[in-house]
Amino acid sequence: MARESESARPIEPVYGPDALAHWDPAGKLGEPGAYPFTRGVYPTMYTGRPWTMRQYAGFGTAAESNARYRRLIAHGTTGLSVAFDLPTQMGHDSDAPIAHGEVGRVGVAVDSIDDMRTLFDGIPLDRVSTSMTINAPAALLLLLYQLVAEEQGVPANRLTGTVQNDVLKEYIARGTYIFPPRPSLRLTADVFRYCGAGMPKWNTISISGYHMAEAGASPVQEIAFTLADGIEYVRTAIAAGMDVDDFAPRLSFFFVARSTLLEEVAKFRAARRIWARVMREEFGARNPRSLMLRFHTQTAGVQLTAQQPEVNLVRVAVQALAAVLGGTQSLHTNSFDEALALPTDRSARLALRTQQVLAHETDVTATVDPFAGSYAVESLTDDVEAAALELMRRVEDLGGAVAAIERGFQKGEIERNAYRIARETDSGERVVVGVNRFRLDEEEPYEPLRVDPAIEARQAERLAALRADRDQPAVDAALAALKETAAGRDNVLYPMKRALRARATVGEVCGALREVWGAHVPTDTL
Ligand code: 3HC
Repeated sequence: MARESESARPIEPVYGPDALAHWDPAGKLGEPGAYPFTRGVYPTMYTGRPWTMRQYAGFGTAAESNARYRRLIAHGTTGLSVAFDLPTQMGHDSDAPIAHGEVGRVGVAVDSIDDMRTLFDGIPLDRVSTSMTINAPAALLLLLYQLVAEEQGVPANRLTGTVQNDVLKEYIARGTYIFPPRPSLRLTADVFRYCGAGMPKWNTISISGYHMAEAGASPVQEIAFTLADGIEYVRTAIAAGMDVDDFAPRLSFFFVARSTLLEEVAKFRAARRIWARVMREEFGARNPRSLMLRFHTQTAGVQLTAQQPEVNLVRVAVQALAAVLGGTQSLHTNSFDEALALPTDRSARLALRTQQVLAHETDVTATVDPFAGSYAVESLTDDVEAAALELMRRVEDLGGAVAAIERGFQKGEIERNAYRIARETDSGERVVVGVNRFRLDEEEPYEPLRVDPAIEARQAERLAALRADRDQPAVDAALAALKETAAGRDNVLYPMKRALRARATVGEVCGALREVWGAHVPTDTL
């Protein structure tokens, strides 16, 4: 029986020449690094440069995370990826009552320029590319990064990296939003314009499907809803008066890599082809870089098991291989113990070594897009593409991504698929090794890494010292100017930078914006 695929059509037991009888290589494939980019965004792909090995990391205080980044760099990581704690992601200071118990837990606590300076102490920002997983307050963390780079003598136009800055998927799947959709989209467009003016090598957004996948989205839903969000951002920037070729080259994407390798390779190839066509045909983009879907991949956290955790090493290796065969530009491999706790140094290093084995001991970097022309993978690519285009049309019929979000459409579709996955797992139809088959009568004990609860008090002391030591009238004036700009139409990043340079905190800056824009309150349909 054909295995039930998670895209439109089941995977066939055998594909032969008839599967591609009417297939047009020129239109469907093209050359690597050329429209429609099915085979990859660069002509030489990994034969020219391997993907960036970019391990997501961060916990506790800035000093502790700085030490982890230095160890990762020493172990050979080729890009940094900052995880922020929830208070930072939600625009609250570490000493705010709402922050209690979350300070430094799922990422690093950053309250001010002082913390950002500590976070990158001894790390040359002109020589690393840094991704920051921050959405609603992305503008603030970008500016703090730029201010710290200035202190290192690194000009903004030399900085390379990415802010996730994708608030639409927060309403759909992750939840770290602050402001209502419209002011959030205004802030996104302000970041596009600000970076276009002064940070030409900075990727202004990482339009993410990963979190929707982790919430239960199928491969088709993952790319359809992500690309629909991308279209919404492009429309927003054009409506704000920008030319598509001025900002589109610095859009980037973020997807998951599941264990279903063949389908995932097809998913990545279909996503590149859809995006290239949308950017050329719907938005008239002329710069080839505007048509390139460059993306980061993280292996599927939701497929890690707490049972027999060492089996996750095999899952992560297969998922990483899927990302590489699918042409990812940057990759995070999960640690085998992450279903249990934050990764230890040893498990984080093993996750990185997985990528290094793929890059240096296998031949997957020896040739570009090895599945090109495959009866099976080209058929699957066409199937995923057709199903994703159909789902994108449904979002468009609802008025686009924001309108669909406001009706709860994406969330509802993903929840239905999550329920299907759960039902198949409970019935055993979907095998999870060690969980519903090949189980152990008794799991071996495991010692997880624990975050020191005392860091919350230490972070509160740092904040008290900062507030006592800064020029308060300058902070007050800068925050007042920020509120005035937020109430108008000018780019808020300029007064925001002045406030952050004066050592205003993340909570104070977001608080000023909350006063003007309000905070998003989810209704039953959003
Ligand atoms: N030929 C020619 N040039 C090449 C090349 C080749 N084969 N390969 C790479 N290059 C060039 C590129 O053109 C680029 O130069 P440019 O910037 O001047 O164009 C440079 O080398 C770097 O290459 P990439 O841009 O492909 O790689 P990066 O790693 O720098 O960027 C990205 C990749 C996807 C575009 C970028 O947006 C990125 O790094 N994203 C990472 C996002 C991330 O880490 N997110 C973490 C999320 S974790 C999370 O959400 C929370 C948790 O819950 C999951």
